[in-house]
Amino acid sequence: MAKKLKIGIIGSGGIAQGCHMRGYASMPDLCEMVAVCDVNPDTAKQAAEKYDVGKTYTDFRELLKDKSIDAVSVATPNAYHVEPTVEALKAGKHVLCEKPLGMNAAECRRMCRAAKEADKILQVGLQNRFTGAARFMKAYIDAGSMGDIYYARAQALRRRGVPGWGVFIDKEKQGGGPLIDIGVHILDFTLYFMGYPKPVSAFGKTWNTLGKNPELFNSWGDYDRSKFTVEDFAVGMIKFENGATVTLESSFMANQASGENFKTQLYGTKSGAIVTPWGDKPVEIFTEANRQLLDVIPANIPHVESAHVDEVKAFVDAILHHKPSPVPGENGLILNAIFDAIYKSSETGHEEKVNAAV
Ligand SMILES: NC(=O)c1ccc[n+]([C@@H]2O[C@H](COP(=O)([O-])OP(=O)(O)OC[C@H]3O[C@@H](n4cnc5c(N)ncnc54)[C@H](O)[C@@H]3O)[C@@H](O)[C@H]2O)c1
Repeated sequence: MAKKLKIGIIGSGGIAQGCHMRGYASMPDLCEMVAVCDVNPDTAKQAAEKYDVGKTYTDFRELLKDKSIDAVSVATPNAYHVEPTVEALKAGKHVLCEKPLGMNAAECRRMCRAAKEADKILQVGLQNRFTGAARFMKAYIDAGSMGDIYYARAQALRRRGVPGWGVFIDKEKQGGGPLIDIGVHILDFTLYFMGYPKPVSAFGKTWNTLGKNPELFNSWGDYDRSKFTVEDFAVGMIKFENGATVTLESSFMANQASGENFKTQLYGTKSGAIVTPWGDKPVEIFTEANRQLLDVIPANIPHVESAHVDEVKAFVDAILHHKPSPVPGENGLILNAIFDAIYKSSETGHEEKVNAAV
């Protein structure tokens, strides 16, 4: 039997235990988790006990000294992605780093360069590409059935959905609010379908009005409103070198109809589509044949039990079979570079250049 990959986990909170560790644990023949690190020793211990992992650390540098470890998951808050990722790559380990890849494009650039220099895989934790809807849609688009996608409207909108745990309301530790936290999912989902065209510029606006208001209801737990330093709503219009344009709307709090509104609407020269990354909403396709307008609901969307688990499986498969990263760091850099431009544009009031060069 081939050697099992040895895995380390850096940051062992919610996403690490619920998704990464669950993913590795689902492949006992291919990999083995050997060490868990968390700055909070109780969290590290609890994660290690849950998944029967032998070693725990509170300093990721100590974990990285273990030469037997082939790959790590980095699942720390956004401000602590860059150092463990760069250090792990320098230590010759493959990295699956949670989204957003960095706080900004400069951090992502460091990570991409480190991966290139080490010749190791850097994968970004953007699991929605692995959903059944995404697999169907990508195959449909790659077969040419949409024609050229020249416009998309991407929405990641919550009505009253500020995460009341962790550090999601803290700009210093997150780099931003809904734009960088959930906008990243829907923008990746959209650009993946569009073939990741090169972004040129963005115009945007962010607001911090509802999130800091103690009078308002929040459905995702309570939080200290005086510490809400991120935006609660962001919009952006992004232009690409190939002429395509995307509008992006993202909120933790907004006075909109449904509780959660996550979807992308694609406009192609042959057909259009509405695709939702999760939940059970069907893919909708809008097209024309024989001068007759057709609204189509696909009947064979692949069943995917967990996109999170499949993302981890894709990481392990890429390492074992020397494949390119299933979600390359360079895509994460493009997303962060777009967010940088939207945040800057909101301050300057002007359209800003997007610099996504590695
Ligand atoms: N892909 C997704 O759908 C998804 C969902 C939730 C969170 N995330 C991402 O996962 C990351 C973590 O989010 P979470 O919800 O798991 O947060 P969390 O607070 O539950 O867990 C983060 C853990 O990292 C630990 N930590 C902080 N700094 C550390 C350091 N320097 N070294 C080691 N451990 C450290 C904390 O003690 C905590 O236990 C964030 O980047 C977030 O954006 C992704």
